[in-house]
Amino acid sequence: MPDLSGKNGFVTAAGSGIGRASALAFARAGAKVLVTDIVEDTVEETCSLIRAAGGIAEGRIVDASSDEDARAVVADVVDRWGSLDFAHNHAGLGAAALPFAEQKREAWQRLFDVNVFGLMSFMKYELAQMEKQGAGAIVNTSSMSGKNGSPGLSPYNASKWAVNGMTQTAALEYAAKGIRVNAFCPSATMTPALASWAEASPEEYRAVTEAIPMKRVSSPEEQAAAAVWLCSDEAGFITGTLLNVDGGDGILGKQ
Ligand SMILES: NC(=O)c1ccc[n+]([C@@H]2O[C@H](COP(=O)([O-])OP(=O)(O)OC[C@H]3O[C@@H](n4cnc5c(N)ncnc54)[C@H](O)[C@@H]3O)[C@@H](O)[C@H]2O)c1
Repeated sequence: MPDLSGKNGFVTAAGSGIGRASALAFARAGAKVLVTDIVEDTVEETCSLIRAAGGIAEGRIVDASSDEDARAVVADVVDRWGSLDFAHNHAGLGAAALPFAEQKREAWQRLFDVNVFGLMSFMKYELAQMEKQGAGAIVNTSSMSGKNGSPGLSPYNASKWAVNGMTQTAALEYAAKGIRVNAFCPSATMTPALASWAEASPEEYRAVTEAIPMKRVSSPEEQAAAAVWLCSDEAGFITGTLLNVDGGDGILGKQ
């Protein structure tokens, strides 16, 4: 397991699914973690799980679409623990499937406010702080949808291509300054939302898993492991990568 003892950072959307698994995994690796989400109860639950496992966590309500929240959460980690060594920008909205010609500009705007403009704000403040320190690692949650076309999911698809573009451009701009910026690209992952859908639509769920080379979906913990590793010194020469965590899906060239 990567060793992040002595490191401090935060995870957005850490109240559920992959974000919660990530906050737990960073803490298990020895880091101090500021757990953030827009839903207060879920923040407290994640903090309790970390503390019950012997880890160190504090909680904060953070709206991942807010520039002010992005500024404040970076300052909060530095005020509490002295440095921002890692940040996992996990928050991202999905959208109901709709053909392109029926897409609504307002729906794109709501999704881009979190997935694109929100991420831009978080990265901006994180990079400014890490530049002062001369060190740091950022990991963004992208998606296999950010590498392929995704019929019906144009706003989500476009937003994740933007995530990948921001990741690689920032990686190049800050590579010589001791800061690494990476992303990982999950395929279908067993979060509470996917579990409900699998129960409600077992045939469709079976078809999805059958199409994945490994014949199963990912666990949140398998995604979280990628986030922690990319922020650890074990990945010290890796920047700008868009790591597929997808059971082989990407090799087939599909989402
Ligand atoms: N689950 C998958 O199959 C899958 C696949 C590819 C990529 N992803 C990515 O994972 C992320 C979603 O996480 P998940 O799948 O663990 O989902 P999830 O539904 O389990 O958790 C989503 C969390 O986001 C929080 N949230 C919603 N809006 C927010 C906001 N404005 N600010 C802060 N937090 C907010 C929710 O409260 C919730 O805790 C997205 O970036 C998505 O693109 C997921």
